[in-house]
Amino acid sequence: MGKQRVLSGVQPTGNLHLGNYLGAIRNWVEIQDQYDNYFCVVDLHAITVPHNPATLAADTYNIAALYLACGIDLNHSNIFVQSHISAHSELTWLLNCITPLNWLQDMIQFKEKAVKQGENVGVGLLDYPVLMAADILLYQADQVPVGEDQKQHLELTRDIVNRFNHQFAQPDQPVLKLPAPLIRKEGARVMSLTDGTRKMSKSDPSELSRINLLDTPEQITNKIKRCKTDPVRGLTFDDPERPECNNLLTLYLLLSGKTKAEVAAECQDMGWGQFKPLLTETTINALKPMQEKYQAVMDDKGYLESVLRDGREKAEAIANQTLSQVKAALGFSVPV
Ligand code: TYM
Repeated sequence: MGKQRVLSGVQPTGNLHLGNYLGAIRNWVEIQDQYDNYFCVVDLHAITVPHNPATLAADTYNIAALYLACGIDLNHSNIFVQSHISAHSELTWLLNCITPLNWLQDMIQFKEKAVKQGENVGVGLLDYPVLMAADILLYQADQVPVGEDQKQHLELTRDIVNRFNHQFAQPDQPVLKLPAPLIRKEGARVMSLTDGTRKMSKSDPSELSRINLLDTPEQITNKIKRCKTDPVRGLTFDDPERPECNNLLTLYLLLSGKTKAEVAAECQDMGWGQFKPLLTETTINALKPMQEKYQAVMDDKGYLESVLRDGREKAEAIANQTLSQVKAALGFSVPV
């Protein structure tokens, strides 16, 4: 039997931050040799909120370069751009027609983002999870490694699969495969540096709330120096009264590669004055090799283009095959 398939993606909206890395990309890298992997830059998702046409293409390339810089290995994985494969948009339309409106209206991310858009909420924002389902289902993915915030979208994807197969396939011959979310415990929800009860997010207006993967050592030092802490001495995990403490210890745990028990023992008697420089140094050192590789990839645009071309060719063959199967199940005529 061949390897199981993995699909995941990140939006090219601004810089990637530690949440994207620790919640998603780092896990892709760690598991990639066990799977047949497809990682896309989801640029169609990026236009579901107001975007800048002047920077979209460059942002898309930057994210693809970051995938490589973070350790995505082309011996195991394919990297491609979502909008380069028209099957993503086409399957979205087909799935739209079998997805009940109220399923989409119940999505937490839609509700949160819609509030920010006021009266200008686009249909695309509501439809965002159906496009995400199309991304996953086109590749008949078995596993989808994501952060905790995407769990509800994965559940919706599974509901769409069940509904589609129930309505349009024989029980013993499903057309679409049921994917499973792959969410790791540690790092699944990296919190803001300025408020330990809120998720670290690209859309937070404060730059101080997040560490970006391409931040300079000075920026990292400044952000950790100014991040929110508490007046308690001795640092512990999992205290619901100390969300910032838990978040910063978890960052240290993940970026240092130490175990939870090691970090708990090391930090139990520390004050913030001792811990912050330690976290700063650990973060700078963990990001340095990735930042150097990013620069090397960006200096060779021809190479990056060839990676995306190869990735698209492999991905498109699979995507078009699934799309044909879905259209056949729905009863469409075939062009002659
Ligand atoms: P995006 O770009 O918002 O986030 C990309 C990945 O980063 C994870 N993430 C986090 N993980 C931990 N802590 C955080 N603070 C944090 N913030 C973001 C997200 O869970 C995600 O895994 N809808 C997706 C993109 C997408 C996709 C797909 C993913 C489109 N199609 C198909 C998987 C499969 C998203 O929100 O991306």
